[in-house]
Amino acid sequence: MDFKTWMAEVQARTERALELSLPAATLAPRRLHEAMRYAVLGGGKRVRPLLCHAAGAVFATPADRLDAPACAVELIHAYSLVHDDLPCMDDDVLRRGKPTCHVEFGEATALLVGDALQAQAFEVLARPGPAADPARQVAMLAMLAQAAGSLGMAGGQAVDLDSVGKSLDLPDLEFMHLRKTGALIRASVLLGAHAGGADAPALERLAHFANRVGLLFQVVDDILDATADTTTLGKTAGKDAAHDKPTYVSILGLVRARELAGELREEALATLEPFGAAGGRLTELTRYIAERSF
Ligand code: IPE
Ligand code: IPE
Ligand code: MG
Ligand code: MG
Ligand code: MG
Repeated sequence: MDFKTWMAEVQARTERALELSLPAATLAPRRLHEAMRYAVLGGGKRVRPLLCHAAGAVFATPADRLDAPACAVELIHAYSLVHDDLPCMDDDVLRRGKPTCHVEFGEATALLVGDALQAQAFEVLARPGPAADPARQVAMLAMLAQAAGSLGMAGGQAVDLDSVGKSLDLPDLEFMHLRKTGALIRASVLLGAHAGGADAPALERLAHFANRVGLLFQVVDDILDATADTTTLGKTAGKDAAHDKPTYVSILGLVRARELAGELREEALATLEPFGAAGGRLTELTRYIAERSF
């Protein structure tokens, strides 16, 4: 199966799994459920579920074992976007080509959407399923919790907000990006590997891979914010500069930021070499993440 077909298949099965995991919009409280579905369904590249499935593929994991972790990490990601867009954070009005959740449903509901999606993510991962080795499941829950919390995504977002109007040095910029974006990317890869029964050395190698890809993902996001247009991105372009946020583009300049993205891509690809053909999907996905246009 070629990469594009595989990607479309994983995106479609993720959409189905997300749809099944969310309460129906007819269930009370209806407005909250409607808003949760609005924030999660029918949009986004689903890069984190793709990473989870591609990491699972290294260990020939059946796809139905990967749906729960893929879904869980996407639910945390969707919650992080709803909160990231709030007026008290990045104050954005457009997300995934639609008005942001708080524009459509109000700030209080958007706040609750984030709360509820985060809880939903852990419920999905805790359900008995085809991968139900309880010890592994507990390890996976802990891994996702750490990635979402103050040592992971939420911590990175705190540094981001604290850095407005400041010029960070490169180690501090890397610290922020590895957390606000890198932590969930890393969890996506490691959850997929765990679901596939990966041993400790494989997990360690994949953690190194995921660190490079996580940083790469946010460097590319910074580049696209500065170079792409709003229609293509489905979110407001140019807002990092408008909000005076330190990014790889503002600190290094566009040319060097692009070079760095190339270096991170090559480092990530090199860590996959020992997996041989089994690392094929991760290799293709790394190239896609580096070369994406939105
Ligand atoms: C955007 O993530 C926010 C970042 C962490 C950089 P994505 O670019 O994966 O957004 P969607 O899910 O495709 O909308
Ligand atoms: C968002 O980073 C990271 C998280 C949501 C955790 P950005 O603020 O750069 O994401 P966009 O550009 O709004 O998607
Ligand atoms: Mg932000
Ligand atoms: Mg933002
Ligand atoms: Mg951005």
